[in-house]
Amino acid sequence: MSKIQKIKGFVDLFPEEAAKFTFMEGAARETFSRYGFGELRTPILEKTELFQKSIGEDTDVVGKEMFTFPDRKDRSLTMRPEATAGVVRAFIESKIHQPGKVSKYFTFGPMFRYERPQKGRQRQFHQINAEIFGAPEAQADAELILMLKTYLNSLGLTKLVVELNSLGCHECRPVYKQALTEYYKSKDKENFCEDCRRRMETNPLRVLDCKVPACKELVADAPVITDHLCAECETHFADVKVILDGAGLEYVLNPRLVRGLDYYVRTCFEVASYDIGSQTAVAGGGRYDGLIRNLGGGDCAATGFAIGMERLALLLDQCEAEAPDFYLAVVDQNASNQAMLFAQQLRDKGFKGDVSFGGGSMKSRMRAANKSGARVCLIMGGDELTNGTITVKAMIGEEEQKTLPQAEFLAGIE
Ligand code: HAM
Repeated sequence: MSKIQKIKGFVDLFPEEAAKFTFMEGAARETFSRYGFGELRTPILEKTELFQKSIGEDTDVVGKEMFTFPDRKDRSLTMRPEATAGVVRAFIESKIHQPGKVSKYFTFGPMFRYERPQKGRQRQFHQINAEIFGAPEAQADAELILMLKTYLNSLGLTKLVVELNSLGCHECRPVYKQALTEYYKSKDKENFCEDCRRRMETNPLRVLDCKVPACKELVADAPVITDHLCAECETHFADVKVILDGAGLEYVLNPRLVRGLDYYVRTCFEVASYDIGSQTAVAGGGRYDGLIRNLGGGDCAATGFAIGMERLALLLDQCEAEAPDFYLAVVDQNASNQAMLFAQQLRDKGFKGDVSFGGGSMKSRMRAANKSGARVCLIMGGDELTNGTITVKAMIGEEEQKTLPQAEFLAGIE
């Protein structure tokens, strides 16, 4: 019979790998709470129009990569490709926003994008997100970047590059777009890839982000956004840089950094690693002040980032699992039930360990005890069962093996 296999681009995380995810989440909770963030959990499934309206119809994410399907009543639903849109929806729907109030949320969870799977790129992947609502100031962007760097440092990841740019606002970006369009006109359109020929009309900035070598070469001399910022955007961007400089946080200015989602204005950033293959972006984010209004909320500034957990996991060493306290070796089948009850008493006292099911030879049980890494091997066979005793063998150190009444052993470890 043919076996059922998982869906392409989806991954199972067994304990060793899952431990890295638990570690990343725990460290994020610790760091983010120091910056005043609280956890928000939002649904994985949302109405398709939420993503169309927020991420943008002409982005790769909405145009090509969403897992979208009708529900039983023919309403179009989408597995979230990112968290920001859902967090914004929840924020608006909860009506918790009051003018002047700043709200900070973080989220963890799986995201879904129908991309070509490769190292560091999956169709189900996990993000850690952080969003700040109600703070238009440059300080909020700088705080996020500082928090992100502090978090990554706490994982021992110091070889990462922060790339920074400003995408301007609804005032100055149209002027820049016009300059870009003029530039493209000065080139032979046929030399651009098919996607870029379309993007030139729909979203000229995205051409700057194209990975096709011919397009990259063609945009090498294109005008840069940072030469077209209005005075307010210029000051905002300068403030972000001053704070990062003051904190000694190193970054690289990349005026070609445009990000793949349409909602950004002003500050945008990515964190890259050149040690994990071609998918270098470990995290990315930026400001998206107009989105809350576009989705039916009031005027409320917003800024945030997301970290790709799979890409981070590629950079982390194996997380060492904590050694168990005991391994309870059953060497007589008849002692199996008694052993389970004894192990339960140890677990009730807070000790961690495993018990072998059924009987087995002393030799095979000792091998299993060694493999488990437990500090102590407890042996229960026919004699122990009859006498109500337990045999204790230390796996570390020179201590002699000894047999003692079970009650005495339990009392001794209180
Ligand atoms: P994004 O740049 O699309 O931004 O994704 C953030 C991170 O998610 C990427 O830097 C990457 O590490 C990871 N990622 C994206 N796609 C995949 C994939 N197919 N497989 C594995 N990892 C992936 C956002 O999603 C924005 N919502 C970030 C944000 C939050 N902006 C403001 N607030």
